[in-house]
Amino acid sequence: MKKSVLLLGVMVFCFCVLVAADTQSDRVEEVKFTEKDGILQLNKGNFNRALRKYKQLLVHFLTPLTVESHRVSEAFEGAAAELQGSEVKLARVAVNEEKDLAKKLNVTGFSIRLYLSGDIHNPVPCPVSQSSASILTWLKRRAGSAADLITDIHQLEASEELTVVGFFKDLNHEYVQEFYAAAIDLPDISFAVTQNDDIISKYGLTYDNILLLKNSRLIRSYKMKPETSKEELIVFISVYQMDPVTEYTGQTASQILSSPVLNHALLFVNKSSEDFKEIFSAFSSAAEAFRMKILFVLVDVGESRNGRLMEYFQVRVFEAPLVRLVNLTDHVTYHLPSETLNVEIIKQFCQSYLEGKAKPKMQSEPIPEGWDEKPVKELVGMTLEQVAFNPNKTVFVLFYLPYSQKSRDLFPLWEELAEAFEERQEVIVARIDVSANDINMSMQGGYPSLCLFPALYAERVVVYTGKRKLKDLIQFVDKEMKKAKKYRVQEDEDRMKYFEALKAEEEKNHSKNKDEL
Ligand SMILES: *[C@@H]1O[C@H](CO)[C@@H](O)[C@H](O)[C@H]1NC(C)=O
Ligand SMILES: *[C@@H]1O[C@H](CO)[C@@H](O)[C@H](O)[C@H]1NC(C)=O
Ligand SMILES: *[C@@H]1O[C@H](CO)[C@@H](O)[C@H](O)[C@H]1NC(C)=O
Ligand SMILES: *[C@@H]1O[C@H](CO)[C@@H](O)[C@H](O)[C@H]1NC(C)=O
Ligand SMILES: *[C@@H]1O[C@H](CO)[C@@H](O)[C@H](O)[C@H]1NC(C)=O
Ligand SMILES: *[C@@H]1O[C@H](CO)[C@@H](O)[C@H](O)[C@H]1NC(C)=O
Repeated sequence: MKKSVLLLGVMVFCFCVLVAADTQSDRVEEVKFTEKDGILQLNKGNFNRALRKYKQLLVHFLTPLTVESHRVSEAFEGAAAELQGSEVKLARVAVNEEKDLAKKLNVTGFSIRLYLSGDIHNPVPCPVSQSSASILTWLKRRAGSAADLITDIHQLEASEELTVVGFFKDLNHEYVQEFYAAAIDLPDISFAVTQNDDIISKYGLTYDNILLLKNSRLIRSYKMKPETSKEELIVFISVYQMDPVTEYTGQTASQILSSPVLNHALLFVNKSSEDFKEIFSAFSSAAEAFRMKILFVLVDVGESRNGRLMEYFQVRVFEAPLVRLVNLTDHVTYHLPSETLNVEIIKQFCQSYLEGKAKPKMQSEPIPEGWDEKPVKELVGMTLEQVAFNPNKTVFVLFYLPYSQKSRDLFPLWEELAEAFEERQEVIVARIDVSANDINMSMQGGYPSLCLFPALYAERVVVYTGKRKLKDLIQFVDKEMKKAKKYRVQEDEDRMKYFEALKAEEEKNHSKNKDEL
């Protein structure tokens, strides 16, 4: 791995030299593109020219190596070798070196996009590719009919792999277009269409049904409705392509995370334990009832490679078996509050979650050692309230998601802010990881969120929405501190009134109780 990183580094360096030369020659009438293994190397200077020159330009936006981007890179090179001399021209942009170009094209991560007829604004994204074959299949399906017409259904049943079969009466029906559109977006799966009415007697199905076949077995069918969209078909196929319960492993992780189902139920269990069979059976039965709505995932706590996932969900080995639900849209996790796990309990939990009735679990990371020694204090669930609601301190907290670039971008600014307030004991600059600590506060507007808890102003939060500049932040803190002092008097009076009222009521109750005695 190290070796290939180095190799790529050297290659990237070479590209730079070539690319620099290319920019120079741009000034000359005839543009010469730098090409390597049939892939154009594009930059700010020549991107538009390439766009004008090639009617179909398939561009790979390359980012520094992660396992995932490396795989896409290899798939792209494989596709380039196959597509030599075809109508599609392949090109590559190194995102990290071509920051301006990437920004102009609205590219953030690694991706493959097809630019058509010189239109810079509406490229077609290529689905994340598992292999060069899937890129080729995608292009082929886009260009022609997206599924083969099969007349002999035995041919379909012979396949070991999952095959998605559209059984249609009329191949010109709108249904078929949605079916083809789904086929284009799922290039790793085989698709076919048939009009052979043996399907009717064999599977008891009518026309306009989608069948999922595997090892001559019908896994599931889906009846097309007038409103059925490509997206619905994709959800249906992606869900039933997987087993009801998928075990989390290195191989399945990307399939789990790229599933269109964004609610996941995770069972953390020791697969070697005595009660595993029983619990797994309950979990699987529940899974059947929530397909398309919740994705069920099994995590073996006995597998050391699952350590990071367990850390993320703050599950310790001795706590297993347990079930967590996670909403991948807002990253809130829910804990099934039960000692026993059976079908009924798991189903009820899932149902209450879907109805929005489940309560998120309050979680806290352990208090980190030396958390208050660094300029920016590292808070956790357990310390947040105690620190933030200290009436003697003004506390400015950055609520962040560790894996979000938008959050991480604020870290340096937060360090600067802490330094600026270093001499002022009454101000604390802190941050808290909201993915690891469930915060019992409604944080509108998402993360990162910048919230000030002014001194003397207990239990009040002021959300900062101004410019993310040091000067503005300091001004904001000073202004809010002044304001807090000003309102302190009013606050005290209100509090006194409240206590007096409470006392009066207590006395009344007291005498009433006495009366009753
Ligand atoms: C990038 O996004 C901006 C804002 O949405 C848009 O105005 C611009 O046209 C986009 N650029 C391209 C090349 O599509
Ligand atoms: C899982 O269960 C087996 C059998 O009870 C036990 O030997 C093993 O230590 C357990 N694994 C963990 C990680 O607790
Ligand atoms: C998941 O989170 C999103 C965004 O907060 C929300 O709209 C949706 O209702 C949540 N889903 C469930 C099942 O709670
Ligand atoms: C705040 O300051 C007051 C007065 O000095 C003190 O009595 C109180 O204990 C302090 N509160 C906290 C939470 O430190
Ligand atoms: C969150 O705080 C509110 C009010 O402070 C409290 O009533 C509620 O029980 C808390 N929720 C949890 C899950 O602790
Ligand atoms: C007084 O009694 C009422 C009803 O019995 C109760 O709701 C209220 O909380 C009590 N107030 C106090 C301050 O104990």
